[in-house]
Amino acid sequence: MNVKVKLLFGLLLWGLIAGCEMPDTHPLPAGKSTGLVPLPQILEPLEGEAKGRGFRCEGALTLMWPEGWNMSAMTVWLEEAQLSWERTSEEREADWIWRVSEDDLGQEGYTLSVKRDRVTMSAGDAEAAFRAWTTLRQLLPETCEQGCASGFTLPAMHIEDQAYLRHRGLLLDCCRHFMEPEFVKEVIEVLALQKMNVLHWHLTEDQGWRLPVEAYPKLTQVGAYRTESDGEVTGGAYTREDIEDILAFASARHVQVIPEIEMPGHCRAALAAYPWLGCTGDTLPVPSNWGVFKDVYCAGNDSTLAFMKAVLDEVCTMFPSDVIHIGGDEVPKVRWAACPKCQAKMRRLGLKDEAELQTAFINEMGAHLAKRGKRIIGWDEILEGGLPEGAVVQSWRGMEGAIEAAHLGTDAVVSPTSHCYLDYPLRSTDLAEVYSFVPVPEAAKGHPGQIIGGECNMWTERAPQEAVMGKVLPRATGLAEVLWSGPKVTEAEGAYEGFLDRLDVLGLRWAFMDVRPGLEGVPVDLEVRPGRRGEIEVTVNAALRNVGGRVRFVSSSGAEGSAVNVGEPLTIEGTGTVQVDVVVRGRSTGVTESFPVAGHAAAHQPLELGYEPSQYYTGGGLQALADGRRGSEDFRDGAWQAVQAVDMVCTVDLGDTLDISALETQFYLYQDAWIFLPRAVTWSVSMDGQRFVDLPTQAPWGDAHKPDARQTVVPLRIEDLGIEARYVRITLANAGACPSWHDAATEPSWLFVDELVVEATR
Ligand code: ACM
Ligand code: ZN
Repeated sequence: MNVKVKLLFGLLLWGLIAGCEMPDTHPLPAGKSTGLVPLPQILEPLEGEAKGRGFRCEGALTLMWPEGWNMSAMTVWLEEAQLSWERTSEEREADWIWRVSEDDLGQEGYTLSVKRDRVTMSAGDAEAAFRAWTTLRQLLPETCEQGCASGFTLPAMHIEDQAYLRHRGLLLDCCRHFMEPEFVKEVIEVLALQKMNVLHWHLTEDQGWRLPVEAYPKLTQVGAYRTESDGEVTGGAYTREDIEDILAFASARHVQVIPEIEMPGHCRAALAAYPWLGCTGDTLPVPSNWGVFKDVYCAGNDSTLAFMKAVLDEVCTMFPSDVIHIGGDEVPKVRWAACPKCQAKMRRLGLKDEAELQTAFINEMGAHLAKRGKRIIGWDEILEGGLPEGAVVQSWRGMEGAIEAAHLGTDAVVSPTSHCYLDYPLRSTDLAEVYSFVPVPEAAKGHPGQIIGGECNMWTERAPQEAVMGKVLPRATGLAEVLWSGPKVTEAEGAYEGFLDRLDVLGLRWAFMDVRPGLEGVPVDLEVRPGRRGEIEVTVNAALRNVGGRVRFVSSSGAEGSAVNVGEPLTIEGTGTVQVDVVVRGRSTGVTESFPVAGHAAAHQPLELGYEPSQYYTGGGLQALADGRRGSEDFRDGAWQAVQAVDMVCTVDLGDTLDISALETQFYLYQDAWIFLPRAVTWSVSMDGQRFVDLPTQAPWGDAHKPDARQTVVPLRIEDLGIEARYVRITLANAGACPSWHDAATEPSWLFVDELVVEATR
């Protein structure tokens, strides 16, 4: 509304603009079906206000905010929503007004009241005012995300809100896969909308260096690109302009960008660019596989330390953040132990071991950054050789690092693998798990140091850009509520159900923003019951709200049987997969869940195990090897059974003497996870369970444990047997220690197996 027009028509227009017509508002069931995520600390519907009706805008707004507050993110949004706006300095003209609060409203605290004639917000500073705007944006109809020129209605209410913890972040790994600048901004927008305020930007890694460094151009010319196993070259790097643009975008949303420059490990891309940075000086490629590599920066070479400082100097010129993440995680010490320069430095400084050398390295960088007014943050391994001075600790291998940091009197950020790793599949970390996270455990309270917040970590080894948002959302939204709203909200009775209801509303907004979240958890699970001999009966059950779909069995030969609905039983004979295209609220999700299964003569027959399965990989219990459910391509799927260091012997009693035509099983091979094939496989059969006869079989892979073997499922089948027996036994010889070429040479290897399939007729 134009001010001149308003002045002309004065009071007449006042009624039309500010309160205007009084159309219906959204009803406001306290905090439940509003789309407010995270939930404000106090939210009261104003029933009495204009008979429960709220503020109506017909497409134009007059706004007032204090001088010096950057509200550009809001005004850009209003323009995209096709709402015309103007700024006023006359309080009585303002439809939306921000006031500087005289009171202490707490961390990023604000009040917001929606009344018939106006929306009033109070905040201590621009950052808190932005959080108030975020709440207001979530109160607007989600359709406004694509334009609402004809206006909107807001429900009358009063909100008082503040952050529980001040550091609420997401780590985005742009190294394992490069993320385009526009995508990084999209992530920042999503974070800001849920009141997260830190983008922890992982910029250097083994598999790619993304940060422009003028003094060392080969870091991005060489270190930003890797050659995949099929010969394709992938990668990319940011320019200084990209970084400036991203920082300006984040700053307008009060999101702090903390760059992570990994040291002294996870640096193979830098070593590929400048081999002299390492202990051996060997020329190594930028790796295209994942893991923890032995080659790290040489901690005894003055040139390497000078390099690191020059890189950090450029980081300081690019990033205004008052903290810089220096990594510090997963640093094998074997190169340092064998390096004359590293050993000489240890002697010179009187260091007792390589862990102390790491602390010395990080202390030197910390002191360098401190001169530039910056503090360092590092992964919890930085505690191992003594806490580097003034460092913030990011606890990821559990909460112990944060608790120790609190005892030592320093700040900590928590992102334990148990709740905060969004690269983990939904099977291990679903939304409910994230929402149950307790970021400040009792053991960390009352000490000189504090847990200042948390992050979820989006590592991208297996997530190219197009997969990232579906992994981040909605799980990061759960963490946003944990960190902003705090335990009074998230530990209240029925909190999670209320959160899911509000998430549904937020999901509508994301759809208008063209943001595509993934599922909240594993959508369906498989129930397997014994069928008649040689068959199993399976039911795919919904494990989330509103999930359905058709369930089919596709045999190993590709034949497709008849289909049933989720929740209905299906009888299965033979080997194949049960598949369901997951539907939520009647709409396809594009997700297909598959469960490898087998109906066979040994399914649900009694087993005798000559070993104890690992507590981490039981396969579901002592019956796992003959439960009708076979291991999938995910070794953590809960179906695989495993042991470490020992052999496996399993005997099944078929109940009767049967005519056995084929025996089949499968193994998992994943050398980076220390999972190897058995050294030998022996099948044997018996009529009486006492005397067993070995079948002429052996592991057909010989010595397959080559350094370049890929992660895979390896089947083993023998057929055309035509033997009669009641008992079948499989004996698996463990491969023993990881071989000498392996990064974990001499460590005990794992053996994974499932299922023990017996094809037979009576
Ligand atoms: C980490 O996940 N290596 C910090
Ligand atoms: Zn060295």
